[in-house]
Amino acid sequence: MSQPSAVAVATDTDLFDPVRLGPYELANRIVMAPLTRSRADDAGVPGELQATYYAQRASAGLIISEATNISPQGKGYIRTPGIWSKEQVEGWKLTTSAVHAKGGRIFLQLWHVGRVSHPDLQPGGALPVAPSAVRAEHQQAYTYEGFKPMVTPRALEMAEISGIVADYARGAKNAMEAGFDGVEIHAANGYLLQQFLSDKTNKRTDRYGGSIENRTRIVVEVVAAVTKVWGGDRVGIRLSPLTKFADIGDSNPEPVYLSLIEQLNPFKLAYIHVIEGDTGGERHPPGAFDLQKLRRAFNGLCMANNNYTLELAIEARAQNSADLICFGRPFISNPDLVERLRSGAPLASPDPNTFYAGDAHGYIDYPRL
Ligand code: PHB
Repeated sequence: MSQPSAVAVATDTDLFDPVRLGPYELANRIVMAPLTRSRADDAGVPGELQATYYAQRASAGLIISEATNISPQGKGYIRTPGIWSKEQVEGWKLTTSAVHAKGGRIFLQLWHVGRVSHPDLQPGGALPVAPSAVRAEHQQAYTYEGFKPMVTPRALEMAEISGIVADYARGAKNAMEAGFDGVEIHAANGYLLQQFLSDKTNKRTDRYGGSIENRTRIVVEVVAAVTKVWGGDRVGIRLSPLTKFADIGDSNPEPVYLSLIEQLNPFKLAYIHVIEGDTGGERHPPGAFDLQKLRRAFNGLCMANNNYTLELAIEARAQNSADLICFGRPFISNPDLVERLRSGAPLASPDPNTFYAGDAHGYIDYPRL
């Protein structure tokens, strides 16, 4: 199945022109979104398969790696890669060198899933951790034995939080050793950091819960720790203020995110990566606040994500509503997505049956044009 692209040949746009991101001159404004593909080994080590996959997609202006666990506790899905062990660092070197050999740039996404896990995936069969003991409803965990219902997580002790921040710092250092060009802090999609930001999941009464200042505290601490390793200009952060993904939500997200952006500005981050609307779904959910307010408040580039098409991307650049545009699923089935968009070539549709936890099929065997 292929679908004709909406615009015959995209000439009157700067989408395909180089752009500066921190110290880098990206070849274009198209970003390969982080995509969970679950093909690492059981120890979270990526290998040649991942190197081939990412190198095939190196004509993206920037690749953001699939979400990568900062610790065994941060894992929530089978066969997701990690960045805590020596073996994982060595495995990732294959990917970074293969992408660089093709002239591409790749950031690693630092991930802790928090409550979105299951004892089957946790060290010693422990409960997953979260700011508070609030279970993700209408959600299943993807374990080695198939889908299982979510459990109620254990609320983190205050004394454990500095250890989690240290795990982010270790992940950041390891990502540098593995040859990545930068890192993205995943503070979106209902995972650990967004669980702290959101009043639906954060019921704490200590200095990490309650007021906006308290709910944003761990995110600011993580940003401080990670920028200590990388500087600000090679660090981005992913936010999804409006998503309902993994049963997340906030009664009033606008002031939370405006406060967070204000607190982030002194770190001079390279970019914010904003998921517009509900992840993979509605781009303009009812009652949503204007996400352009975040862009205006932030001193850095804005990367936009969520169901973008070429038409929407060209429009976003024409209106200057974003600096960089992410494409996710189209990159799965079109390794040469940038060239296809540029020339108006048809796009291949991906097969959802091979999104996760398979092998080379549906991963590195989508042809170029
Ligand atoms: C997933 O593995 O399903 C997943 C991971 C990271 C996201 C969203 C979904 O941000």
